[in-house]
Amino acid sequence: MNATTTMDRMLDGLPRKAQNRIYGVLDNLRVMGSVGNARVAASMAPSVVRGLVLGRAHSGDAVPMQARHAAHFDLTYQNEFPEMYDLYRRAVAGQWNGERDLDWSTNVDPENPETAVMPLDYPPFAGLAEKGIHLNAKEKLRFANDLASWTLSQFMHGEQGALYAAAQVTESVTWLDGKFYGATQVMDEGRHLEVFLRYLDTKLQKTYAVNDNLFVILDDLLTDGRWDVKFLGMQIMVEGLALGAFGTMYNFTKEPLLKQLLKYVIQDEARHVHYGVLALRDHITKELSPAEIREREDWAYEVALLMRNRFLSHEIYYEWFEGRLSLKDWDDVVLKAPSMAAFRHLMFLRLIPNLEYIGLMSDRIKVHYDKSGLTSFLGGKNATQLSADDLLRDIAAYKPEGAASAS
Ligand SMILES: [Fe+2]
Ligand SMILES: [Fe+2]
Repeated sequence: MNATTTMDRMLDGLPRKAQNRIYGVLDNLRVMGSVGNARVAASMAPSVVRGLVLGRAHSGDAVPMQARHAAHFDLTYQNEFPEMYDLYRRAVAGQWNGERDLDWSTNVDPENPETAVMPLDYPPFAGLAEKGIHLNAKEKLRFANDLASWTLSQFMHGEQGALYAAAQVTESVTWLDGKFYGATQVMDEGRHLEVFLRYLDTKLQKTYAVNDNLFVILDDLLTDGRWDVKFLGMQIMVEGLALGAFGTMYNFTKEPLLKQLLKYVIQDEARHVHYGVLALRDHITKELSPAEIREREDWAYEVALLMRNRFLSHEIYYEWFEGRLSLKDWDDVVLKAPSMAAFRHLMFLRLIPNLEYIGLMSDRIKVHYDKSGLTSFLGGKNATQLSADDLLRDIAAYKPEGAASAS
């Protein structure tokens, strides 16, 4: 507490740009230093350096990522995981067509509050006002539209990562039924990338670069050679993050095309998480050593914190408020916003029971989740107990406290 106060005092005496730079560096160091498990820190460090230090997500037209997993070519052709095969059949039957099934002729009018992509109760205007930032009606509308473009851009980047992760995992898994299922997920993720890209391109006409923290997670899991870590990262952690983020947007948006698009995507993601927990529970409980389980528990916990604390729209801050507000104050505003509370609630509501089900919630790690205020979600329904309709019902039922007064 004293150290923070001293640091705040030191930062206060500096020009705003220097303050932000030092705060950003310290924040990045905190991410690297918060990992208690040395093996986890070592496995994440290259991605943290590429994403947060070298800024690879902003350099050039593409980022090469060295995949190091082994493909498993099956010679038995045995169907040994009927629950996975059943998911495959359901996935084949549930394919939708982004061109045919969505009404792209819908006129998305950024000025019309009746069909707002991001209504004015989503952005943290009340928190900004407390920090002395008052936007007029026109600015509020433009800000809400920028925040919508930023959020949907991150969905698009996440879907590109999901597409490659699904392809890698399909090669790596040892169950033939998992390969069948994985092929449908590759198609799903390709379609998700297609529809988010098309929506951004033709309806919002503004896109943002990939957020550095999202890039770190994607880079980490796409370059990790262990299929189960890749799987844990994509099918449980990032899918949990996606369900929280898509669910929040689905709840808030009044724009019918986006609402329908998100509904289709959420229904697919429900299957993806289901597949993830089936595969990982089997592998973790039957094949991993206690030390390997401990490492995965720690890794999942670090990624959970990264997802909770660090998707704070810094790109929007730099575009709108640099020079008027410190980055630290912006983080404070975003973390306290009702829409962020909704996102965190929906994300952990799904994530924690899944981690519990696959065997990554020992009493040892529970203490850490408890300190972070996340154990209230223990004992909830995991992905094998939930249909896509259950998910949509849970999402619709969650109305964030204070959302109405935030406008
Ligand atoms: Fe997806
Ligand atoms: Fe997915």
